[in-house]
Amino acid sequence: MGKKIGIGLLGLGTVGTGVANIIQKPEGRHPLVSKIELIRVAVRDLNRPRATAISSSLLTQDPYEVVNDPSVEVVVEVMGGIEPARTLIMQAIAAGKSIVTANKAVIARHGKEIAKAASQSGVYVLIEAAVGGGIPIIEPLKQSLGGNQIKKVSGIINGTTNYILSRIAKEGISYTEVLKIAQNLGYAEADPAADVEGFDAADKIAILSGLAFGGSINRANIPTKGIADLKTCDINYANKLGYTIKLLAVSEKLKATNDLTSSIPLAAWVQPTLIPKEHPLAGVSDVNNAILVEGDPIGEVMFYGPGAGAGPTASAVVADILNITGIKVIGNKSNGLDPLLAANSWRNCHLVDPSKIIQKHYLRLKTEDSPGVIGRIGNVFGDHGVSIQSIIQFDASKAEAEIVVITHEVTQGQITDSLNTIKTLDEVKGISAKMVCI
Ligand SMILES: NC(=O)c1ccc[n+]([C@@H]2O[C@H](COP(=O)([O-])OP(=O)(O)OC[C@H]3O[C@@H](n4cnc5c(N)ncnc54)[C@H](OP(=O)(O)O)[C@@H]3O)[C@@H](O)[C@H]2O)c1
Repeated sequence: MGKKIGIGLLGLGTVGTGVANIIQKPEGRHPLVSKIELIRVAVRDLNRPRATAISSSLLTQDPYEVVNDPSVEVVVEVMGGIEPARTLIMQAIAAGKSIVTANKAVIARHGKEIAKAASQSGVYVLIEAAVGGGIPIIEPLKQSLGGNQIKKVSGIINGTTNYILSRIAKEGISYTEVLKIAQNLGYAEADPAADVEGFDAADKIAILSGLAFGGSINRANIPTKGIADLKTCDINYANKLGYTIKLLAVSEKLKATNDLTSSIPLAAWVQPTLIPKEHPLAGVSDVNNAILVEGDPIGEVMFYGPGAGAGPTASAVVADILNITGIKVIGNKSNGLDPLLAANSWRNCHLVDPSKIIQKHYLRLKTEDSPGVIGRIGNVFGDHGVSIQSIIQFDASKAEAEIVVITHEVTQGQITDSLNTIKTLDEVKGISAKMVCI
């Protein structure tokens, strides 16, 4: 057997351990797995017990030793965080090494710079594990769906929030209670902000959007709202109206154009969303993820599975390592990069003004329980061109009532203008909730 491809691992935590376990036990897997070898592994704490049998001689506390080791041909970055991960990736690329990373935070913020450097150095940066854990979605978007004009990518791409929402819907327990359970089970971090505020989902939809539409968008401009303010009563009302609430991430092309020189307008957002119970995404529960891709001519195709965890995420990381290994084993005769594997942009995309995005809306208003209030609210919506799918009064047992409105598709701007007028009505005590529906 010829020389093995040397792998340098940055991180031996949840994902790194899963990767090491696969590499060290190639039996029963694709023959290429036996052509790779762990050369060097960076950790923060050399004394921490490890859940994988790894020779202590491979470990180092200096991640630059991994990147600079001449026998490391592929650097696998599974340490997380922005720095030093970004600098290590850039340094490895400059040294002519291909990268495999699970780090959505770095790719969503610095993907353009990293892809440019990789293209100049003639190396690959593969990111299958960065979105959807074990679900193959990155390579399908780059390769298997390459013949399509993609119209829309939408998905449940944060397992922690999906677990929390699923348990609230099933058991009626409060958000705070479920968050504690999720933290005890290891599904949520001690600081859950990245998940529950929607930032992790925004990182991932920025990455998917770039692959689906061929140009990156500014992740910082994606309107993002998490589930931390969601009330159990809204989940219950949505249920009564035939919907389930999920944290949905969406990127949609608003105008098709064949002109590659003009920028494509996209509507992208992350927010709790009412999904009709018969929709394919509505049944995605617990920590599972699912991504629905709509393209021409394929129609709708859904990718579903475990969105995180050592085994699923390592499965995606190793698939990327094998893609690079395969090319190295056969030898790159053309000296160029495989265009279906490389991270190319081929046009510009931009996000449209969020107030112009057209969506259905769910609104919950607190009002006096007085005759005619529904009619007056309905009139205000009518004055702003907002047509209503349903308007229902709930919980009128006290002096106050809750009125739930579901609109037809209108702009965010129309909703904002309507609510500004509705707030001034004497009977209206407040806007208690505002979400979108699909
Ligand atoms: N966990 C998942 O299910 C999952 C799913 C998809 C994507 N990801 C992504 O995968 C990456 C890794 O996640 P993880 O859950 O495996 O994280 P983790 O369990 O916290 O592991 C991080 C590893 O990196 C090491 N490390 C951190 N900073 C270091 C530094 N400056 N120098 C040397 N070593 C350092 C740590 O060393 P010590 O062990 O000594 O502390 C640890 O081994 C993240 O980008 C994450 O977003 C994770």
